[in-house]
Amino acid sequence: MVSCPSPASASASSAGSGCVTGSCSGMGSQPSAVTVAAGELLAWRRRLLAAGDGGPELDWLLEFAGGLGREGRLQLQLQPRQPVQLRASLAALEQLWWRHRRAAEPLQYLAGCCPWRDLDLAVAPGVLIPRQETELLVDLALQRLPAVPEADLHWADLGTGSGCLAVALARALPAARGFAVDLSQVALTLTAANLERWGTPPGERLSLLHSDWWSALEPWWGHLHLVVSNPPYIPTPLLRALDPVVRDHEPTLALDGGSDGLAAIRAIVACAPRALAPGGVLLLEHHHDHSQAVLALLAAAGLERGRAHQDLDGVWRFASAVRSSN
Ligand SMILES: C[S@@+](CC[C@H](N)C(=O)[O-])C[C@H]1O[C@@H](n2cnc3c(N)ncnc32)[C@H](O)[C@@H]1O
Repeated sequence: MVSCPSPASASASSAGSGCVTGSCSGMGSQPSAVTVAAGELLAWRRRLLAAGDGGPELDWLLEFAGGLGREGRLQLQLQPRQPVQLRASLAALEQLWWRHRRAAEPLQYLAGCCPWRDLDLAVAPGVLIPRQETELLVDLALQRLPAVPEADLHWADLGTGSGCLAVALARALPAARGFAVDLSQVALTLTAANLERWGTPPGERLSLLHSDWWSALEPWWGHLHLVVSNPPYIPTPLLRALDPVVRDHEPTLALDGGSDGLAAIRAIVACAPRALAPGGVLLLEHHHDHSQAVLALLAAAGLERGRAHQDLDGVWRFASAVRSSN
């Protein structure tokens, strides 16, 4: 078992709120409308897909970088003579497309955004793209809230990345006190941008902490009622086998869980009994085949009521446990 480290190395800071992308255009500036003929767009799409696969990805790019959603795409077929408004020129979209196809750059980085739950989040290189399976962590967290009045509730998101979980929790629990923690300053800048974007800016009720897991939270140890984390959990030997779109572009700090994938989880679990409030809940996402190992770590740390939770595909993807109320 890893011991709970001293907080001396941590520095608490409010990350700047400079917007990283500013829009979902991926072009680095405010989107401007471009008009193209539907027939021209259909021919362009056919040409780019001539090599075979990639239809759903190209449609994703058209939607999130070009601003043409499903309904708009259907209209193309029905009214091929109509002009279509796009947020970017076909030449600019094509440039992004080839960067994705040739260099495996993630579409979300190219578009500068990622839909997640009911949110449209800014994303940028250097910060993990929020995954669909993580969406459920928010529901699990809200179902497991200890019986504390919202205004007294303290929550934390350890390893906040884009801030997806922090934004969702801040919106669901506007009166609570929240903390979004990350070791990456790049991530915290993006978190700040997303919190601003969704009307829950860092401030008195929400702090961004530049910290190694729990360290900067030390003043609140013993008072944290809900702590969520989707830590890095890929075993190091598996990193090389990841899809190039992940392996070559997403940050190792967000992926690498050490030799067995459990290094970050051990560090988080080790401090939980001291950092959680009595009755406080820890909720973790983990690697698809680590359910038993994580439950064993939670129990060995003295946490109670350990439970495994499935994701929407039936994979045992999450674990929760509670600090005893005494
Ligand atoms: C798997 S990503 C999760 C990001 C985000 N919560 C999500 O679900 O998309 C893990 C995050 O943990 C952060 N991280 C890694 N090591 C850390 C540490 N020692 N202390 C705090 N954060 C850390 C990474 O920078 C990354 O943002």
